[in-house]
Amino acid sequence: MSERRFAAHGPSTVDAAPAARLAGVRVLRGGQALLDGLDLAVPGRGVLALMGPNGAGKSLTLRLLAGLVRPDAGRADWGGAATPPRPQVALVFQRPVMLRRSVRGTLAHALATYGVPRAARAERIAGLLRLGRLEALAERPARRLSGGEQQRLALVRALGAEPRLLLLDEPTASLDPEATAAIEALIRGATEAGTAVVLVTHDPGQARRLADRVAFLHRGRLAGEQPAESFFTAPAAPEARAYLDGRLLL
Ligand SMILES: Nc1ncnc2c1ncn2[C@@H]1O[C@H](COP(=O)(O)OP(=O)(O)OP(=O)(O)O)[C@@H](O)[C@H]1O
Ligand SMILES: [Mg+2]
Repeated sequence: MSERRFAAHGPSTVDAAPAARLAGVRVLRGGQALLDGLDLAVPGRGVLALMGPNGAGKSLTLRLLAGLVRPDAGRADWGGAATPPRPQVALVFQRPVMLRRSVRGTLAHALATYGVPRAARAERIAGLLRLGRLEALAERPARRLSGGEQQRLALVRALGAEPRLLLLDEPTASLDPEATAAIEALIRGATEAGTAVVLVTHDPGQARRLADRVAFLHRGRLAGEQPAESFFTAPAAPEARAYLDGRLLL
């Protein structure tokens, strides 16, 4: 496929057709617009960081992109389709939900739900355990893992679907530097394999390390979207400038 380019950074990673698009999206709850007139195109390649203050609507935007929430007005589409192709769109929650199963059993269950043939599962599980550096923990109950280990498991569980679009909600919040580096390596590996990633993060350092572009949400609207390099040196939106300066956003 000629559009398949694996460079981690640079404009060549973002010229593929969008993996998903939100157009004029509005989400209402209790008479209040949580998202209002949100336009967002997720590039078909590379990492789009989604930043913005608490309550801006980042997690809700990920749920829309995963097809878990329907817009009350406006449109969401995935390469022209009105519903996300499953399991090619995968969402990893900030606090992943762990099943009452072992690490290996968790991955086996996930692969079964993705429709991977039984005969192919054992090898795929071994590959995912290796990828997540979880081999030594394979027989442990998933719920007993530490936060960082659970994040790694949640991420490789999602990668087991070989998603086209991977949606990550603060995947390293509250992790130590080593666990963070391990998660970031997994994300980089996924983008190099051609997966488009939307990464919600409050960590500008992480966005700098991983993102090709940054979209900044504020009060349920897109305040700005631009290449990562220029976002950090010259953020276009005043709200983004204030956020990066650590000024209070009201
Ligand atoms: N089902 C719901 N009913 C009512 N309000 C909701 C609902 N879901 C989300 N909200 C509100 O919508 C707003 C956006 O929520 P969201 O979780 O997307 O924020 P966020 O940008 O992810 O914030 P954070 O950085 O704190 O995770 C918040 O004010 C939240 O309270
Ligand atoms: Mg959130």
